[in-house]
Amino acid sequence: SVAYLNGHYVDLEQAKVPVLDRGFLFGDGIYEVIPVYAGNPFRLTSHINRLRKSLAAIYMSLPQSDDELKTIIGTLIEKNPYDNASVYLQITRGVYVERHHDFPEQGEATVFAMISPLPPVQKLSQATEIKGYSVITAEDIRWQRCDIKAITLLANCMLKQKALESGADDTILVRNGEASEATSSNLFIVRDGVIITPPLSEHLLAGVTREFILLLANQHGIPYEERPIPEHELELADEIWLTSSTKEIRPVVKVNDVTIGSGQPGSVWRQMYEYYQVLKE
Ligand code: PDD
Repeated sequence: SVAYLNGHYVDLEQAKVPVLDRGFLFGDGIYEVIPVYAGNPFRLTSHINRLRKSLAAIYMSLPQSDDELKTIIGTLIEKNPYDNASVYLQITRGVYVERHHDFPEQGEATVFAMISPLPPVQKLSQATEIKGYSVITAEDIRWQRCDIKAITLLANCMLKQKALESGADDTILVRNGEASEATSSNLFIVRDGVIITPPLSEHLLAGVTREFILLLANQHGIPYEERPIPEHELELADEIWLTSSTKEIRPVVKVNDVTIGSGQPGSVWRQMYEYYQVLKE
């Protein structure tokens, strides 16, 4: 496929970044993942705003304007044949001759973007075919700034792998006894018809999908709360969902071998999934 690297549109498999890039040496960079439906980026402005926040948090600024970033994304969509896709946009501090920890005076950032296909849109009638996830819980071993969408994802990868090795699909992360999010998605539970998600903090990412679901809840008069979720409350939930730009709203039907609700995706999930599908079109 066609990717973007530092001003050029290139063959993805040929694209190369120098070993002295601080992204390679230090994981010094940030990223975004933007879903594309029927050729249109979804909630693009929210993604660009979060990108700017991540950049500011690591003391970086970019010469490219929001419009220029949007043009890169639009061009990748045009140059590739996917209807439904996700765009991965990564920005690192760039290439510096000396390896030292302090941030060098800013030179040219490395700006990279690629696009990959997403599975075709599941129609409302197929919603029942969406597989509920089985998850485990584990101590969150990541750092204290999970609000930054940093490219340093080794802990996330380890925690995801831990789930797969115990026959589950993902891991819900627990810090100070509270469930915060999963390895690459936000967490919601439903109790007695009320949607509950942990409040924004430095322990989780401010998901664009999370924000959108709260907006939908608001629009449709579904009650919701942003409050901490103690780990033990997971098993008591009627429903659990994991949400992200690529997973949309994924129902969870098992936590540490305890069945959630009826063991099937729940009715509030179904309703929210339908609202989501309608609006993303
Ligand atoms: N991950 N929490 C974490 C740790 C994430 O990595 C993600 C997204 C989310 C959900 O954010 P959003 O709704 O804006 O996609 C929450 C992306 C998809 C990824 O790493 O591939």
